[in-house]
Amino acid sequence: MKGTFPIERFQSIRTPFYYYDTTLLRETLDTIRREAGRYANFCVHYAVKANANPKVLRIIKESGLGADCVSGGEVRAALQAGFPANKVVYAGVGKSDWEIGLGLDNDIFCFNVESVPELEVINSLATARGKVARVAFRINPNVGAHTHANITTGLAENKFGIAMEDMDHVIDLAQSMEHVKFVGLHFHIGSQILDMGDFVALCNRVNELQERLVQRHIIVEHINVGGGLGIDYQHPNRQAIPNFAEYFATYHKHLKLHPGQTLHFELGRAVVGQCGSLITRVLYVKQGSHKQFAIVDAGMTDLIRPALYQAYHKIENISSEAPTEAYDVVGPICESSDVFGKAIDLNRCQRGDLIALRSAGAYGEIMASGYNCRTLPIGYLSEEM
Ligand code: LLP
Repeated sequence: MKGTFPIERFQSIRTPFYYYDTTLLRETLDTIRREAGRYANFCVHYAVKANANPKVLRIIKESGLGADCVSGGEVRAALQAGFPANKVVYAGVGKSDWEIGLGLDNDIFCFNVESVPELEVINSLATARGKVARVAFRINPNVGAHTHANITTGLAENKFGIAMEDMDHVIDLAQSMEHVKFVGLHFHIGSQILDMGDFVALCNRVNELQERLVQRHIIVEHINVGGGLGIDYQHPNRQAIPNFAEYFATYHKHLKLHPGQTLHFELGRAVVGQCGSLITRVLYVKQGSHKQFAIVDAGMTDLIRPALYQAYHKIENISSEAPTEAYDVVGPICESSDVFGKAIDLNRCQRGDLIALRSAGAYGEIMASGYNCRTLPIGYLSEEM
C-alpha cells in the first residue's frame, strides 16, 4: 500500500523537498500525551536532533513536550520555537563555553554532564554569572542495543557518558561545588530500538545504580532514560504511530522510581519519523547491461541514511500505477554510495515521475548537506499546501 500525497499540489514545487503530514504528526503527539499521561510522573522531551524544522518544532512545542538538545544551536532553535527554558535539557560530550553560557543565561532545566572536566567548566561559568546550574550525570550503563553499530551509544567502548564505576566520585565532586546542583541521572542506549528487552536491560541497570545511591542516602529528582524507540521502516503505513503504550508500560513495569521522582524520556525518531517523506523526481531512466537505474534528483546530500547506515527507506512511485519493474534508485551525487535502494520494485518509471522516500521525517532534512554545492531541501507541511 502506498502513502497518500497531494500530487497535484506537488507539481509546482521544486524537487527534491521534504513533505510532512501534520495530521499524522499531531495524532502521534496526541498518542504520546495520552500514553505517557497514564503515569503521573512521566515527562517526555522531544529530541530536537531528529528534526529541527521550525514549523515542525512549533507543532511539537504546542503539544506540551519538552526539548532535548545536543548543541547551543539546538537550544536556540528550541527556545525560538517557544519551548519553555525550564523544559529544555542539554546533553553532549563536547559542550563549548558559549553553549554552556547560553544554557545558563536562559536557566535551562538541566545540563546532562558527560565528564569531570565539563562539570568543572560548568561550575566556573555558573560562578562567574552568580548562578547555580542544574546538572544530571550521563552514565554509560554498558547495555547493548539490538540496532545498527553506528547508532548504539550505551556500551563501555562508546565515547558517551561517565563510566558506572566513576559515578560516586563525580557525585561527590558535584556536591562539593557551590554553583552546580546535582539533580538527576541520564542514560541513552541507542536508537531505532524495537526490542523492548533492550529497555528492560536499561531499567535493571538503573535500578542497580539507584540502590547504590540509596545506600548513600541520595535520591535524585529525576531519571532520564533517553530515547531510542524505533519505527517500522519496512511498512510505514501498517503502524504509522509507534507502540507508545507498550514502550511507556515497559518502563512503568521495570523501572523502580522512588516517591517523588520523575522519569524523563527523550524521543526523536518515534515522534517525527513516519510523518516525513522526501519527494524527488525521476530525471532519467537508464538501461544498464544487467539492470536499469532510476536516476532521481535527490541524493545522499538530501537523505544520507541509506549511504551512512545502509538504512532502508521504502520507495514509491507516486505518479504511476503502471506494472512494476525493478530499478536501482540512485541520486546525482558523484559518490558510488549515492544509492537509495537496489533492485526496488517500482511502478514503471518515466522522466518526471514523482518518487517518495518514506519514513524520512527523522534524521532526514536535518542531516542534509551542501556537498557538490547542492541547495538544501526545503520542508513543507501538508497543512500549508
Ligand atoms: N537522547 C540522546 C542522548 C541521544 O543521543 C539521542 C539520539 C536521542 C535522545 C534520540 O534518539 P531517538 O529517539 O531518535 O532514537 N542519525 C541516526 C540516529 C542518531 C541518534 C543519535 N542520538 C539515524 O539516522 O538513524
